[in-house]
Amino acid sequence: METSNRLVLITGATSGIGLATVSTLKKNGFQVVLTGRNPEKVDKACAETDCPGYVLDVAREQDCLATVRQVEKDHGPLWGLINNAGIWLEGDFEDYAPEDIRQVLETNTLGTMMMTHAVLPGMIERGRGTVLNVISTGALYTRKNISVYSASKWALRGFTGCLEAECAPKGVRVMGFYPGKVSSSMYETAGVPRDLDIAMTPEQAAHMIDCMLQDEKNVWGQLSARSLNDYV
Ligand SMILES: NC(=O)c1ccc[n+]([C@@H]2O[C@H](COP(=O)([O-])OP(=O)(O)OC[C@H]3O[C@@H](n4cnc5c(N)ncnc54)[C@H](OP(=O)(O)O)[C@@H]3O)[C@@H](O)[C@H]2O)c1
Repeated sequence: METSNRLVLITGATSGIGLATVSTLKKNGFQVVLTGRNPEKVDKACAETDCPGYVLDVAREQDCLATVRQVEKDHGPLWGLINNAGIWLEGDFEDYAPEDIRQVLETNTLGTMMMTHAVLPGMIERGRGTVLNVISTGALYTRKNISVYSASKWALRGFTGCLEAECAPKGVRVMGFYPGKVSSSMYETAGVPRDLDIAMTPEQAAHMIDCMLQDEKNVWGQLSARSLNDYV
C-alpha cells in the first residue's frame, strides 16, 4: 500500500504500544501525528520519533474535537485514527475510589468514542479512512479484580463491532485489536506488579497494528493476539 499520503493520529502515544506504533508506522512511510496527555512526554516522544505532537487528554471531551481540527488544519485530512490511550485499574470493586472508576471509563471508553466522533464525519465525507481501537483480551472474557477495566473494554468491543458494520458501507474501516499481556509500563503506572517476561513487546503489538492498517481492502474485525510464552 502507498502509505506516504496517509496521515494517522495516535492517542496515548508517549509510551508502550502507542510510542512503538508511532515508530513502526513512521518507518513504513505513514505520516504520523502523536498525542499524549503529558507535555514533557509529548516533547520527548516527538524528539525521539521526529513526528509532530500535540498535548491531548482524551478524557477532556472538548479537547478531542479541538485537537482533531487543529491537526487537520496543520497537516491535512486524517486517514487514520488509533485510539490507544488507556489506563489499568485492578482490585476488588468495593475498594475502588469513585474518581478512579470515572477516570478509567472517561479515558478508555469515552475518550475512544469522542475521538472517533471527531474524525468520522470527515472520513465519511471523503469515503475513506480507518479507525483502529486498541482494546484488550480483557474484553473477551471476565475474571475477578478487573471489573471496571474490563467494563471499559467490553463497552469498546460492542462499540467497535457496531461501528464496523455501520461504517464499512461508507468506505471507513473500524477495527478492534485485542492484545493479551504487553510489556509496557501500564501495570506499573497503576501500581500493580506484573511479571511481563512472558508478555509480547510493544513493538510486536505495533507490527500487528501496522498489518491491520496496511491491508486497506479488508476490515480486520476483532484481531486478538498474545505471546506464545503467555500460554503457560
Ligand atoms: N499492557 C498490556 O498488557 C495491555 C494489554 C491489552 C491492551 N492494552 C491497551 O493498550 C493501550 C496502550 O497501553 P500500554 O500497554 O501501551 O500502556 P502505557 O505504556 O501505560 O501507555 C498508555 C498511554 O496512554 C496515555 N494516557 C493515559 N491516560 C490518558 C488520557 N486521559 N489521555 C491521553 N493519553 C492518556 C499514557 O500517558 P501517560 O504516560 O501520561 O500516563 C500512555 O502514553 C491501552 O489502551 C491498554 O488498555 C494494554
